[in-house]
Amino acid sequence: MSLSQPSLPILPDIIPPQPSLAPTFGRPVHYSGYEREGQDFYATPAWVTEALLHHVHLRGPVWEPCCGDGAMSTVLAEHGHQVVSTDLMQRGFGTPGVDFLQCRDVPGQCRSIVTNPPYGDSGSHAGQSRSPTAMRTFLSHALMLTASVQGQLALLVRLQWIAGRRVAEIMSAAPFATVIVLTQRIRWFDMGEKTNAGQHHHAWVVFDHAHPPGQPPAMLYA
Ligand SMILES: C[S@@+](CC[C@H](N)C(=O)[O-])C[C@H]1O[C@@H](n2cnc3c(N)ncnc32)[C@H](O)[C@@H]1O
Repeated sequence: MSLSQPSLPILPDIIPPQPSLAPTFGRPVHYSGYEREGQDFYATPAWVTEALLHHVHLRGPVWEPCCGDGAMSTVLAEHGHQVVSTDLMQRGFGTPGVDFLQCRDVPGQCRSIVTNPPYGDSGSHAGQSRSPTAMRTFLSHALMLTASVQGQLALLVRLQWIAGRRVAEIMSAAPFATVIVLTQRIRWFDMGEKTNAGQHHHAWVVFDHAHPPGQPPAMLYA
């Protein structure tokens, strides 16, 4: 059943809510010492998005479906892209109340999805153990949406995440075009003198449904 939102004509239809994922346990959880923000909110520094745009030409308008306070959207717009910005939460930017996982179309004329998906779940440490599963669900859904428009998908992920066996299966079956490894660790929170270098290395993984079949992805450093 399609539930249109007439007051938001640029938004995709939504599909009925899916059952929530059962939590899995057994993997050590890293405690950073920082409180995780609600719904995994942390803004991406501008240089990270600029690194993507330095290496990848995005076709058509871009959808940032987890826009947060607009950190990525703003950089994309500054580089001349038309950007549709949505988020599950109200963060003072873009259109709130849009659950990406329940969208079944890309909005408007968008041909690319660029985002930093939520890595954990609901801000609780217990929920972090679900993050690998949730991220795979996010990836599969984003690939399905971008396939429908022969588009592109750029996701900022932890470098270690792409080594997972089940992630590898999804990525190997997808039109994986480019991986951009960030050699500088991201500092997610500015806490003045107390700001730590990030715990993780990150990378952009870029999929392009126009990528020639059988051609391996390019690996780049930024
Ligand atoms: C890690 S933050 C990234 C914000 C922004 N993309 C950036 O890089 O600065 C993740 C964002 O995803 C949003 N979010 C979480 N689950 C979502 C969902 N199912 N649909 C849409 N947005 C979601 C959160 O509200 C949060 O703003």
